[in-house]
Amino acid sequence: MKKIVIINGPNLNILGEREPGVYGEETLEGINEWLAQEACALGLELRFFQSNVEGEIVTAVQDAGDSDGIVLNAGAYTHYSIAIRDAVAAVSAPVVEVHLSNVYAREDFRNVSVTGAVCKGTIAGFGRDSYLLALRSFS
Ligand code: DQA
Repeated sequence: MKKIVIINGPNLNILGEREPGVYGEETLEGINEWLAQEACALGLELRFFQSNVEGEIVTAVQDAGDSDGIVLNAGAYTHYSIAIRDAVAAVSAPVVEVHLSNVYAREDFRNVSVTGAVCKGTIAGFGRDSYLLALRSFS
């Protein structure tokens, strides 16, 4: 079984109550449970990590460096964290960037991803399915 690590960044721990019109009504726990079920059929074993702290996300990316793949939703850090970008560039595991919302259809500052250029690909705008589509790319 391939080992995949799903890393979520700031404010994703409050999904469900956070701007439900943008991010949906499901909690992160609910999304993770659903993904874990879907992953079995794809032959993937998942590990989950969430932090609101930039440095902890850097460490989580480093720690997942020997996994078969990383699914990264860095939240707002996507748009300006060179430290997370450098961590992604440094690991050998392929990283797929995901976003629940279509960041390209929102405010200008969300149209820029500093992490995207060092990822294998980006999936945005499909709600929780963004994560599933990323997992499919690893199966
Ligand atoms: C997000 C989009 C980001 O712009 C935002 O800061 C988030 C969530 C998304 O999943 O749509 O926290 O990454």
